[in-house]
Amino acid sequence: MAETVNILGPARNRVDGRLKVTGAAKYSVEFQVPNCAYGWTVESNVAKGKILSIDTKSAQAAPGVLAIVTHLNAPKPKEPAAKKHRGQTDGIRNEERVPFSDDEIHYAGQYVALVVAKTIEQARYAASLVKVSYAPEEPLLTMNAAKSSATKPKGSFGPVQIKKGDVDLPLKGTSLTKIEQIYTTPTETHNPIEMSGTIAAWDRDDKLTLYDATQFVKGVQSVIARAWNLPIENVRVICPFVGGAFGCKGAVWPHVFAAAMGAKAAGVPVKMHVTRRNMFVGTGHRTPTTQTIALAATRDGKLRAMRHVSHIATSPVGDHVESCGARSTGMMYESPAIQVEETLHKINVASTTFMRAPGECPGTYALECAMDELAYALKMDPVQLRLTNYADNHPVKNVPFSAKHLKECYQVGAEKFGWAKRNPQPRSMRDGDLLGGWGMATKTYPAHKMEAAAKVMLRADGSATVQCAAHDLGTGAYTALTQIASEQLGVPFEKVKFELGDTDFPFGPVAGGSNTTGTVGTAIHEVAQLLHKALADLAVKDSESPLYNLSSNDIAMIAPGHIGSKIDNKKSDAYIDILRRAGRGSIEVQSELKEPEENKKMAFQSFGADFVEVKIDPLLPRVQVTRVVSVINCGRVVTFKPARNQIIGGINMGIGMALMEATEYDPQTGLPATRNLADYHVVTNADAPVIDVTFVGEPDFAFNPIGCRGIGEIGITGAAAAVASAIYHATGKRVRDLPITPDKLMDIA
Ligand code: MOS
Repeated sequence: MAETVNILGPARNRVDGRLKVTGAAKYSVEFQVPNCAYGWTVESNVAKGKILSIDTKSAQAAPGVLAIVTHLNAPKPKEPAAKKHRGQTDGIRNEERVPFSDDEIHYAGQYVALVVAKTIEQARYAASLVKVSYAPEEPLLTMNAAKSSATKPKGSFGPVQIKKGDVDLPLKGTSLTKIEQIYTTPTETHNPIEMSGTIAAWDRDDKLTLYDATQFVKGVQSVIARAWNLPIENVRVICPFVGGAFGCKGAVWPHVFAAAMGAKAAGVPVKMHVTRRNMFVGTGHRTPTTQTIALAATRDGKLRAMRHVSHIATSPVGDHVESCGARSTGMMYESPAIQVEETLHKINVASTTFMRAPGECPGTYALECAMDELAYALKMDPVQLRLTNYADNHPVKNVPFSAKHLKECYQVGAEKFGWAKRNPQPRSMRDGDLLGGWGMATKTYPAHKMEAAAKVMLRADGSATVQCAAHDLGTGAYTALTQIASEQLGVPFEKVKFELGDTDFPFGPVAGGSNTTGTVGTAIHEVAQLLHKALADLAVKDSESPLYNLSSNDIAMIAPGHIGSKIDNKKSDAYIDILRRAGRGSIEVQSELKEPEENKKMAFQSFGADFVEVKIDPLLPRVQVTRVVSVINCGRVVTFKPARNQIIGGINMGIGMALMEATEYDPQTGLPATRNLADYHVVTNADAPVIDVTFVGEPDFAFNPIGCRGIGEIGITGAAAAVASAIYHATGKRVRDLPITPDKLMDIA
């Protein structure tokens, strides 16, 4: 067993756990706002065309109806700034069109009217009375149909089209072992248990409060303030708890605009709770992908060329680009030639968005399946093939990784799983009547850093409150950030209260890209220094302090609750004594928002490896994942329990991706046909295996002062490939089209 440095912070219970299990944690639509009315949308049942007329007469006359918003009467908000003029603090739109802005229909399910009524039942009933007639046009419903208008997009984060060396020669030659296969993934829809929702309350004509289920309160504030041309401080967004998001609450979606419009029109606050049905059209989904991977390797397994060509989609009014190849094949293995190509198709299906590891998730599925196929073609162990092509440097940027412990992930994972006992021959590892299979895959996710600021109030009783407009999506951010605050401030964990989810707090970034712990942690680190400086400034002026007359620059935290001289370690003073002697009940400091420093001399990326066992009854080929061992290197793990949870959750979501998740569309209407949790299958307890999670490596202080690289997304990467490879090992059948449902395995008996 490899030596592992202790990188684990304490295994804290969730600070918000009791609030959640007792129902005291308030989710956005649970806030009680006086006189609140309800919104219910009417959706287009055609996928492309124009609205000819909307008859709202009988709906208007229905009981309780307060207002009906359509493109004919909707206030026209100012268009938000074009994407290229927006910075990180300006919010996110994945659907650029403001709802009800014109008579155009871009996809089935598009909101065409909003009914506001006193009760939700009245709103729903009246919405059923709205009659819309359309001039339908022939929609483009598949990527194939939209081929002629496809484009080669630029990425939102770094290049998505990559060319290093010449891939064509090795891929055409005859001396190398080659693999070329097409892998497809369907549309996947986020299904957090808390659906999206917004309560919009105009406190004045020019002052708006939103209780919004969001991953980005400051982003919602910015987008909505600009749309209504309001001073930013006149829009407040509140979101203390989120019941899961996975990316679908990162951008500002039409229902948020609709709630504010409805509240304006009706003159009362309006609650818009997106139905589970409309989560399949109104809040984004993961694009379907068609990915062709071509690999060429020498007989001893050295990669000579890798090509990853992806086709992805969004709606005509969408702009999300899923970067499948760049964020997998573009950085995973050493190869003299790497080509990544991405093609975007605009189809008349609702807009796509980020979904847990956008890009890395489908990309690693395709690449890691292809690596498994190459291992079989070479008659080489799949772990050995990865080790043979191990990249110490980022293979395209050609700079070293700050800290990469992937070899250790393979080694520890293989040992814990018992990989050495694997007979590579497909169908060779039976368990009674069941076919058994073992597969593995590499996991990876980049480290992202964003901007944040924080405020701290330290009280004379030794307690502290720290604030940042960050988010806890259910990930454990409250707990991790409380832990960081405790360490950085030097205040006991139990005495720190971390507050988030309110635009009145200092800037916090989108809870996306697994960046929250590192980004907000860095802001906490900075505000802690400012607090220690402020305490030092008080102490050096206080003749009763052991630090009297020292320079405050020579003073720092020397132990929890104490600052002291960096020069003379006998001189120190306690926070509470400094405040008491100064006659201060509390002291408050805030850090400034500033762009994070970029270190271009290194690549910052997390890695891991999954080892998976499946069992399949050949007569009823439902795949059961029975065992997973996952080893992750993500820098420091601030608090072990929620971090382990994130990996387990990500792997379970990857199992869902491999075996069951798919949004199906009616080919006639373009409407989703799977619009509830009975038809759209996600992993439940009966599907979830025992997942053994180990963290290896060291704190990554080159990345940030906390040493952590984020943990929310890496879990899902690679997992589906490990499951698909285990299924091949069990059955001898290679299914490249996800999900691997029983119908695709009917011929294995
Ligand atoms: Mo995550 S898909 O970056 O919200």
